[in-house]
Amino acid sequence: VRIYVPRDAAALALGAEKVAKAIAQEIAARGFDAEIVRNGSRGMFWLEPLVEVEVAGKRIGYGPVKSKDVADLFDAGMIDGGEHRLCLGEVEDLPFLKEQTRLTFARCGVTDPLSLADYEAHGGLAGLRRAISMTSAEVVKEVTDSGLRGRGGAGFPTGIKWKTVLDAAGERKYIVCNADEGDSGTFADRMIMEGDPFVLIEGMAISGLATGATKGFVYTRSEYPHAIATMTEAVGIARQAGILGPSVLGSGRAFDIEVRTGAGAYVCGEETALLNSLEGKRGIVRAKPPLPAHKGLFNCPTVINNVISLASVPVIMDKGAAFYRDFGMGRSRGTIPLQIAGNVRYGGLFETAFGLSLGDIVDRIGGGTVTGRPVKAVQVGGPLGAYFPRALFDTPFDYESFAAKDGLIGHAGIVVFDDTADMLKQARFAMEFCAVESCGKCTPCRIGSTRGVETADKIAHGIEPAKNRVLLADLCNTMKFGSLCALGGFTPYPVMSAMTHFPEDFSPAPLVEAAE
Ligand code: NAI
Ligand code: SF4
Repeated sequence: VRIYVPRDAAALALGAEKVAKAIAQEIAARGFDAEIVRNGSRGMFWLEPLVEVEVAGKRIGYGPVKSKDVADLFDAGMIDGGEHRLCLGEVEDLPFLKEQTRLTFARCGVTDPLSLADYEAHGGLAGLRRAISMTSAEVVKEVTDSGLRGRGGAGFPTGIKWKTVLDAAGERKYIVCNADEGDSGTFADRMIMEGDPFVLIEGMAISGLATGATKGFVYTRSEYPHAIATMTEAVGIARQAGILGPSVLGSGRAFDIEVRTGAGAYVCGEETALLNSLEGKRGIVRAKPPLPAHKGLFNCPTVINNVISLASVPVIMDKGAAFYRDFGMGRSRGTIPLQIAGNVRYGGLFETAFGLSLGDIVDRIGGGTVTGRPVKAVQVGGPLGAYFPRALFDTPFDYESFAAKDGLIGHAGIVVFDDTADMLKQARFAMEFCAVESCGKCTPCRIGSTRGVETADKIAHGIEPAKNRVLLADLCNTMKFGSLCALGGFTPYPVMSAMTHFPEDFSPAPLVEAAE
């Protein structure tokens, strides 16, 4: 019998380690012939720690399990899938999972993250094998035809980026995986690195073959110790198995990976600051051009892609471009792992084709707020994303539709707020976040964000609120168009959307109003 207990950081935070220990004790005490497998998370966080028992080829779930429940679960016959108040039935049949289209996350929570045999048994390496049989240009064309766009947030076509690097002259080329997942409410990159690290390694190896790069870096954050440990171990296993090294799967073509850890600055998720950090310099933004695709790491042509972009490549190479592009709508093709978080009943990872409406995601899939109060606002795309009011809940989740409503899908983080949220405070927070995290290179961001905090405070204290609202909007305009990178350039999104959609929160009774 196999019993699955997740080793994902979210499950660990909720007590999975204690649960695993309690299960091991019960197995020993009762003399069962059972093996505990530490899997990734299925992404249903309200059920974590979610324990699964494999019975006749089916996975029966129990959750959320506390260590004190374990003896009782064994008494109830959990080992044979027995009935219990925590029994959820077959995990694959849970509506939250059943409704998803899991392409990138197909194995996450299903397999043992560090078992190559498990990885291959569930379709792993088929994409890389196919890529090896093709020329670089053919691989780039396949990825271009799939319609895959950068899942880090900007949505730039991955195939076109790869072609730029393939065509660039350079003795050395690099693949850099941006795993500096800093957006509030996001965890997709972490879940892949902890739950299915080989898919990222495979995606990076394919990217190397496609562009002529022989070295890759995974740049992740110090706040992700479990992801760092799992990725590092997985790279070692892949190297031993000949997936990485001087001859990738015997192809005669070299590719290897190194895992690097950042020191915690949000701006190091910006690609050029990330490159500086990788080079051992201060994490400060570089002016573009030159694009990293032309002159990136150590001045060499470099592919920088987000974890999810790279982890989506193996399924594209395995099943073909047409299969992938068949999902989605408009220019947003394939699937997107939504990360539903904040004040929401069913928080977690939901991979689906582009096109679901925001309201459907929040109200139906997320189940509304956990406090039971009405949803007031949803911030989409991290701390630099816009706040959407209920009035915009019909917006389909895709790059263009969100841009048309002055928003962005970003890395697909969705943070829900109930009607107790004070949107002026949220706007102030955006400015404060920018002030704290600014790399300091350009004036609109470095100075503007601090002036933004002061102006928001004046409005809150009723000091010339009408004048200061105009000033705040003007400042946002300057930051949006005058900043060098997205940190200063996108901070206006949360501020302006809060002001536009929730004007009542920006209209305190004036203590002082300017004499006109
Ligand atoms: P960008 O639009 O400047 O560039 C997008 C990507 O395309 C870059 O890698 C750029 O080098 C590349 N590119 C552009 N033109 C190219 C060409 N002609 N050939 C080859 N490559 C080309 O956007 P940027 O500043 O890189 O990213 C901004 C986004 O980052 C925002 O949309 C935001 O949502 C997202 N973001 C994500 C975070 C996360 O934690 N994942 C955190 C903060 C922001
Ligand atoms: Fe640095 Fe901010 Fe300018 Fe970006 S916008 S380069 S973070 S100062």
